[in-house]
Parts: sequence; structure tokens; C-alpha cells
Amino acid sequence: MRAHEAGALHGDIGNRGPAWLRPPQDVNALVPQLWPRTVRRAEAGALEIGGASVLDLAAEHGTPAYLLDEDDLRSRCRDFAAAFAGADVYYAGKSFLCKAVVKVIDEEGLFLDVCSGGELAVALAAGFPAERMGFHGNNKSVSELTRALDAGVGRIILDSFQEIDRLTALARESGKRPKVLIRVTVGVEAHTHEFIATAHEDQKFGFSLAGGAAFEAAIRVLDEGVLDLHGLHSHIGSQIFDTSGFEVATRRVLELQAQIRDARGVELAELDLGGGFGIAYTTQDDPSPAGDLAKRINKIVDAECAAENLRRPKLSIEPGRAIVGPAVFTLYEVGTVKDVDGIRTYVSVDGGMSDNIRTALYDASYSATLAGRKSDAPPLLARVVGKHCESGDIVVKDEFLPADVQPGDLLAVPGTGAYCRSMASNYNHVPRPPVVAVRDGASRVIVRRETEDDLLALDVG
Ligand code: LLP
Repeated sequence: MRAHEAGALHGDIGNRGPAWLRPPQDVNALVPQLWPRTVRRAEAGALEIGGASVLDLAAEHGTPAYLLDEDDLRSRCRDFAAAFAGADVYYAGKSFLCKAVVKVIDEEGLFLDVCSGGELAVALAAGFPAERMGFHGNNKSVSELTRALDAGVGRIILDSFQEIDRLTALARESGKRPKVLIRVTVGVEAHTHEFIATAHEDQKFGFSLAGGAAFEAAIRVLDEGVLDLHGLHSHIGSQIFDTSGFEVATRRVLELQAQIRDARGVELAELDLGGGFGIAYTTQDDPSPAGDLAKRINKIVDAECAAENLRRPKLSIEPGRAIVGPAVFTLYEVGTVKDVDGIRTYVSVDGGMSDNIRTALYDASYSATLAGRKSDAPPLLARVVGKHCESGDIVVKDEFLPADVQPGDLLAVPGTGAYCRSMASNYNHVPRPPVVAVRDGASRVIVRRETEDDLLALDVG
């Protein structure tokens, strides 16, 4: 008997997963909010994405693979653009960037946030207009700043006094006058994992509001007159569901905007509230549609501008996860199924922490479903793990899978579009999976699978 077949071992030792996780009525059912919008389970049992069967996709592209629903991605770009009409929507490239995605972002009329020379290079290689880019980072090198200036990047988000000095010197040398924003640390405790919260005081990003550094930075840039101070920026963290953090951030940043006006008579043109909008990884997550977010955020901005007697600056936002996260699932093949008697069933797949580090790094929760067939077997509480030499190599901590899950089965883990391929590693020299875009029944590889030859090519010793 497997340790956690539903109904078995009632009241016995053995892990039962989190309290909210219940054996599903139908282990084959898909919870729509977790899956890319075109995903269905076909009558015969296999999942389809973009009109293509995972059986065919696995045969053609192998596993593991990130399968990207191109229509879903485009529809989320459109949702944000429509909901935040009048604002500039910057797609945060750190969530996932490759040339094909850059082209989609461009075609859908979005802006693009890059935060390293590498991301800038990908965006430029895909022909993205530099003036629609923003350049972030707490430690941009002189060479990165130079490249951004040469390319004509639309806005550079300043993060330290040293960076103000560096960019001012470069701008003087080149005779350019780049648009800049000041990144403000507003002192909000975002309700998210510590490593992905970014607006509390004790951290590396931005200029502290409370300590006066943000005001001083704005005044320095204005008084020097070399850089074009265009606005203020705040990003409070990631995977946030509650708009109260944005409310506090907006109030504090607009108070600063009013102080700058009072000190220098300048009303800054732009207010960037960053990204961080949460998505559903499990049935417990209930993200707001872009339209609801926009309504709430616009209301907050209007109210705070009225309170400070400010003209309404142009709004910008920088969603990454909420655009690409739900558009992808990872397709794995099961290799071994191990019952650790009375404790837990481990289902090992052919990837792991090298293609999704989020579970190990942030204790993130994911879901999974049997992808290549349906099953009449009862639900079994399982832990989906990878193939790495590390016991923390967990992909999905707890999920009910059919009790007949077996080697050779395909397994799909949704919500892996953001911060999975972009944070992938070669740990244990496991090559990184490809990203395959699927649309109208056709698939195309947009990032090819890494090979052992690729790994050996770097090893020049
Ligand atoms: N803007 C700025 C300035 C950011 O630092 C970030 C994310 C974003 C926008 C986009 O945030 P999003 O909408 O994607 O949540 N690796 C972590 C997330 C780190 C986010 C870093 N900055 C994770 O896997 O959850």
C-alpha cells in the first residue's frame, strides 16, 4: 500500500500536507486559474496546450521542457495594457527574457525593464526600441551605463549616490541628457517572502525615504542639471496580493514629490510603482484581475495627488511574473516512484532545482497534474522531487496525484513562466531545458535545450 492513498492510514503517522490541501473529487480535473488559458485535458486524457498534445510535444522536444502558451502570454500583455490604459506598462525582463518574448512584448506595445547588460543585449538583439526600455539595478557598472547611454535607453533608474556621480560624469562626457528616475525605498513591509520583499529599510535597493536620502538624491540631480530627472520609482516586492502596500508606497512617494516641488518648484512627470502582482501557484492563491488592480491603484494615485495638490504624474508599472508566470508549465517525465513506508511517496522527475529553484529558495508552493493520460486511480499524496544530489531538491512539496503514477508518466507543473528558466542553473551538470512556444497547434523552440557539449564548451581547462 502506498503511504498516502486517500483514506489509508487515517490518524496514522505520515505527512498529510498542508491543512488546505484536500484530495480532489477528480484527480484529472484542472483548476483553470493555475493553467495557461488554452490548456485542456483532451477526451483521451492527455493535456493540450495551444492546440497541441503534450504527448506530441514530449516526443518532438523531449522532457523536461518549459511549454509556453503564446496566446496566453499575449492576452496577459493586452489585459495589462487595457487595464492600465494611459500608463506605461514595462514588462520586467528578469522574470523571463529571450528574443521571441521580447518580440511579443514589442508587438503588444509594452515597454521593457532590463536590469543588466545581458538583458539589455537580448532586448537590443531582438530589435526592441531602446527608448521604450528602463534600466534597473543597484550596481550597474560603468560599462553597462555606457552601453545604456549609447543605445539611448529611455530611462535609467538611479539606485545610489555613486551611480548618480557615475552617470553624471558619463553624460557630461558624451553630451547626452538621459532621463532618470530615483528609486525610493518607502519602508513598506510587503507581505511576501523576505528575499523578494524590497521596500523595507534594511536592504540594498534604492534611496531611503525616511532617512532623507531620496530627497537629497532628487535635489542633487536637479541642482546639477546634467541628468533629466523624470520621476520617482518604488517597487515594494514580489508575489503580492494585497494593494494596501501600494497604497502606502504611493502616499509616501507622492509626499516626496510634493517636497521636491516645494523645494525646487518642479513637478516630476512620472510615477513608477514597480511590479510585484501575485499569481496563482496553488488553489490557495487568488490573484486579482489586471482590471481590478488598475482600478484600485488609479484610485490611490488620484486620492494622493489630490491630497498633495499635485498634477497627476504619468503612471508606470513593471509586472513580470503576472505576465509570463501563468503562461508556462513545465513538462517532466517521471523516472522513479518511491514509497518511504508510512512517511511519504516521492515521485522523481527528470529535472528539479536546476529548472525551478523557487521551492528550495523561497519555500514556494506549486501544483502538479498527470499530463499524458487520465487515471481512475484514487488520489495519492505525493512529493514531486528532482534528480539532483540534494535532499532539498523539491519541485512540488505536496500534491495529490493518481495512485497509479508510474515511471514514464508525464507530469505538468504550472506557473513556471517567471523566475524558473531565468533562474535556472547547471547544477550537477544537468543541461537546462528548452522553452517551446505553442500556438494554433504548432510549436517552435524559442530557447533550445542546453547540451552536454554546451557545458563542455565552457570548460576550457
Ligand atoms: N520592477 C522591479 C524594480 C523589480 O525589482 C522587479 C522584480 C519587478 C519589477 C518585477 O516583479 P514581478 O512583477 O515579476 O513580481 N526571483 C523572485 C522574484 C524577484 C523579483 C525581483 N524583482 C521569485 O522567484 O519570486
